[in-house]
Amino acid sequence: MIAIDLSGRRALVTGASSGLGRAIALNFAAAGARVGVHYLKDHDAAEAVVAQIQQAGGQAAAFGGDVSQPAQVEKLFADVDAAFGGLDILVNNAGMDGARELCADSDPAHWQRVIAVDLQGPYDCTRQALKRMLPQQRGVILNITSVHEFIPWAGYSAYTSAKAALSMFTKTVAQEVATQGVRVLAIAPGAIRTPINAAVWGNPDSLRDLDQKIAMCRLGEPDEIGRVCAFLSSDLASYITGTTLAVDGGMLIYPDFNHGG
Ligand code: BGC
Repeated sequence: MIAIDLSGRRALVTGASSGLGRAIALNFAAAGARVGVHYLKDHDAAEAVVAQIQQAGGQAAAFGGDVSQPAQVEKLFADVDAAFGGLDILVNNAGMDGARELCADSDPAHWQRVIAVDLQGPYDCTRQALKRMLPQQRGVILNITSVHEFIPWAGYSAYTSAKAALSMFTKTVAQEVATQGVRVLAIAPGAIRTPINAAVWGNPDSLRDLDQKIAMCRLGEPDEIGRVCAFLSSDLASYITGTTLAVDGGMLIYPDFNHGG
């Protein structure tokens, strides 16, 4: 039997107090990793994830900080060092869609905030992670992009720009470190049932519209992302680097062309 084995691995998942990050943390722990549950503000929610992992016999700890602030990122990684003695897996998951604003009417401060969280954060976390992974010649950095690294999305130009840039960042850094035991790759989730899009799936009309944009005609569940992240971070995926894997129920295969055309 082939099993995903992350035992002995120390992982940090940013934005793990809810949504995809939480599911990724739970799956990592189930595969045997020691998991850093990073949070921005919701300390209690992060501690609840830690408690759930510990109750299931796993190992985890919560770490706070704002990934868009380089000084806080430095402290975050120092805290992880102090608790875990190093790092083997980083998941750059923390992110935000931002408010819907057409470019012409948009507020530059809002645009910059999304870029700071969704792009500069992963950059700074990656720098810190590489400082630890390159000397040990082992590591995996997994960036959570989105189908919107490929699909334009009116009103979300900061988000789509950040995700497309994060994709190219993934490939470029993967190229830089490929011979040094560190894999860098991305997952592009489609519409997954998390707090980020709760307003959409919470409304029957917008849910129907969203379902029609997905070939499988249903939202994904957080666990369907968490499992793939565990696999990609494990040695089962030892020959995968510098690419994005879409986990989107077929959002990227133009479901509209199932008819007509
Ligand atoms: C966004 C979600 C959206 C999904 C599909 C994701 O990247 O965060 O809000 O539902 O893409 O459009």
